[in-house]
Amino acid sequence: MSGGTGQERRPYRAPRGIRDVLPDEVPLWERLERTASRLARARGYREIRPPLLEETALFTRSVGEVTDIVEKEMFTLERGEHSFTLRPEGTAGIVRAYIEAGFPKNAPVQRLFHIGPMFRYERPQKGRERMFTQFDVEVLGSLDPRLDAEIIQLAARFFEELGLTRLEVRVNSMGDGADRDAYRAALRAYLAPRIQEHCDLCRARFERNVLRVLDCKNPACQALHADPPRLVDHLSAENGEHFESVRALLADVGRETVVDSGLVRGLDYYTRTVFEVHAPELGARSAICGGGRYDHLVRDLGGPDVPAVGFAIGFTGTLLVLRELGLLADVAVEPARAFVVAATEGLEREVFRLAEELRAGGISAIYDLEQKSLKAQMKAANKGGHRYAVLLGADELARGAVQVKDLQAAEQNEVDRAALVAALAE
Ligand code: HAM
Repeated sequence: MSGGTGQERRPYRAPRGIRDVLPDEVPLWERLERTASRLARARGYREIRPPLLEETALFTRSVGEVTDIVEKEMFTLERGEHSFTLRPEGTAGIVRAYIEAGFPKNAPVQRLFHIGPMFRYERPQKGRERMFTQFDVEVLGSLDPRLDAEIIQLAARFFEELGLTRLEVRVNSMGDGADRDAYRAALRAYLAPRIQEHCDLCRARFERNVLRVLDCKNPACQALHADPPRLVDHLSAENGEHFESVRALLADVGRETVVDSGLVRGLDYYTRTVFEVHAPELGARSAICGGGRYDHLVRDLGGPDVPAVGFAIGFTGTLLVLRELGLLADVAVEPARAFVVAATEGLEREVFRLAEELRAGGISAIYDLEQKSLKAQMKAANKGGHRYAVLLGADELARGAVQVKDLQAAEQNEVDRAALVAALAE
């Protein structure tokens, strides 16, 4: 609807917690994307591109009904009888695709990666956005502890390649099955005497999903359960050995890890190994990567009981640390090789044609759009960092030639139009 009401229209803004990546920032993003895909491909991971939108039930089932993500943070939309949700994380969609593509039967071991946006309705703050990008890595089909070590090493290598050196890799084991049940019982027994002093959410979670009480951000609650029982003390011999193997394999390749027995992650699907990579520069919310095993998620989403392990790195936090450490060297975008200059007025149509001729020959080219004088066009060509100014005047047009000025060597020559592409090529 157009104006006429006399009311001031406020300017549109991107929704809170959601931002543009402007052209100047894109080279930095490309650097992260290239580093991620190079490291992943070098280890045999193949890229997968699942959709941004999934059935809501997929996330309720996988991330867990009693989690921050499902209870408070999903962007959900209803269409008729259907409920869809913008993916808050990548693992559920990748597992769904793995089952739907028939991988469990035909090629059960799959190393996959994905880079793309995720959506969570969180309170925007430093390092937390409502739309953010993750580099997601998943290996499905094996319980081999080498895979746990491989992906932890891959996550750490990603940050190191970007120049981060003060990484802290925290690991823990969540156990599985009987030892997890034993841990839950121990945690309930520990919390029970003080649970009435906890917030409403903690009390509800105590009943429905006791592990999630440990996610509470309320300092008063945190003080009430400052020293909870440790999962590592309840691990079965088999799961304990698995955990020790992962740590030993990492030690073999010189990767230091810190056992953090309080690390339980905020999503329900984890079993056995869990880990986070922290950048101390970020302070309290320093996790720039999180992941672990999810050995029953494939089964829970309708596939066979196939183990899996993975992680996701957040680009928001990564870029923040890089900026804080001054590691965001400006990556310049390569300017077009040729700037086509109209040396006489009225040649707009010919300039366009010449630029297209160059482009068809594989030479990147741009031209002035602001009716600048010859002098101003030459200035723009110099300032823009282009290698060549290609001057077209009425005389040259008649002769089938152009003037080529090499802006680096400051030399000018007349070149036959038919030989132009070859003359400007590397
Ligand atoms: P997550 O810990 O929820 O795990 O997220 C992984 C990383 O994504 C975090 O460490 C953080 O860097 C980034 N991140 C999460 N939420 C936000 C946000 N609101 N704004 C900016 N960055 C954020 C997962 O998502 C699991 N799917 C990881 C995984 C893969 N586990 C197994 N496979």
